[in-house]
Amino acid sequence: MTATIFTGISELRTVSEAGTVKDAALVAEDGVVAFAGPAAEAEHLGPADERVDLGGRAVVPGWVDSHTHLVFAGDRGEEFEARMAGEDYAAGGIAVTMGATREAGEEELSRLVAERVALANSGGTTTLETKTGYGLNTEAEELSARIAAQHADDVTFLGAHLVPPGADPGEYLDEVTGPMLQAVAPHCGWIDVFCERGAFNEEQSRRVLEAGKEAGLGLRVHGNQLGEGPGVRLAVELGAASVDHVNYLTDDDVEALASSQTVATVLPACDLSTRQPLAPARRLLDAGATVAIASNLNPGTSYTPSIAFCITTAVLQQHLTLDEAIEAATAGGARALNRHDVGGGKDPQGRPARGTLVPGASADIHVLDTDQAIDLAYRPGVPLAWRTYKAARRVA
Ligand code: NIG
Repeated sequence: MTATIFTGISELRTVSEAGTVKDAALVAEDGVVAFAGPAAEAEHLGPADERVDLGGRAVVPGWVDSHTHLVFAGDRGEEFEARMAGEDYAAGGIAVTMGATREAGEEELSRLVAERVALANSGGTTTLETKTGYGLNTEAEELSARIAAQHADDVTFLGAHLVPPGADPGEYLDEVTGPMLQAVAPHCGWIDVFCERGAFNEEQSRRVLEAGKEAGLGLRVHGNQLGEGPGVRLAVELGAASVDHVNYLTDDDVEALASSQTVATVLPACDLSTRQPLAPARRLLDAGATVAIASNLNPGTSYTPSIAFCITTAVLQQHLTLDEAIEAATAGGARALNRHDVGGGKDPQGRPARGTLVPGASADIHVLDTDQAIDLAYRPGVPLAWRTYKAARRVA
């Protein structure tokens, strides 16, 4: 057994019933939290193999980024610039990235994904979900899923991101729900569908999700991003773990989310980059829904892994308190991935939970280069990421 004690913590946001502990310490044993609380109590716990003095800095759980699209090549800077000059965002841009992704070989794609994971780690992210969805044929989707599984904690099959240009929608869905699903399933735990005008309608989305469920995958939905629609309703009806974007919600949608287990995942960086109204995170929390905050890193609508930026936006513009925003980007993301604490620091599968610093959970910690976490919103844009540890091992 290897024990590490982290001392010199000015404030420890545990994202648990223990709340915020001042002048704290954290002890990890074999990568799992053994103690998180007042420093004075930790000193009685016995010798550690390693002592890490964090020098009076604030600590939060590592970010749990539950929505990213890391597997792509190329970029869409021109499309973004045109959007900033007044063009609308449309789902069709996905086809541009599809072309670049299909052209890149396995080695290049792996390198790009590894770089993106490292950048996310350096911003405090310790758990990453990522999706396929820029291959859009069986061979390229299988490759995307395989690469994703080598780098991310959770992999989601998103063959139903767009009908590739020139393809027949019916035939493409036959492929997605047949050979493509079979090819990617060994690498994926989740299936997702872009349920939106210009992408897949309710009936098509239902077909995709039901096929994924049949194959043993958990469900996620991209919904209500560009207008009101069936995404939220469908996600709740089919028991999806999460419905993501949720910019345009009716009162019924909010009510449905509040009375379900489906997490409403908001993507503030994407909302700003697409000039959509910010998702109503305050309204969702007030109604009793579980909210997650994620980066949505992708080349079309959100070319950033920065959860700190998302938290700043959530606090300053979406009217969340700092604790609510931190919880959404840690425990909220963990719930969206079924990795939340269900007791004793374990998740529903009995693994060390993510997104909380309680005994039994994974010792995933993000050390801020300041003594108070409120600086995430109070000092917008200031680089506050100092170090990141995943399972007590330094990753940035
Ligand atoms: O989550 N909305 C659908 N998919 C991505 C963007 C895809 C793209 O435009 O490349 C998203 O925003």
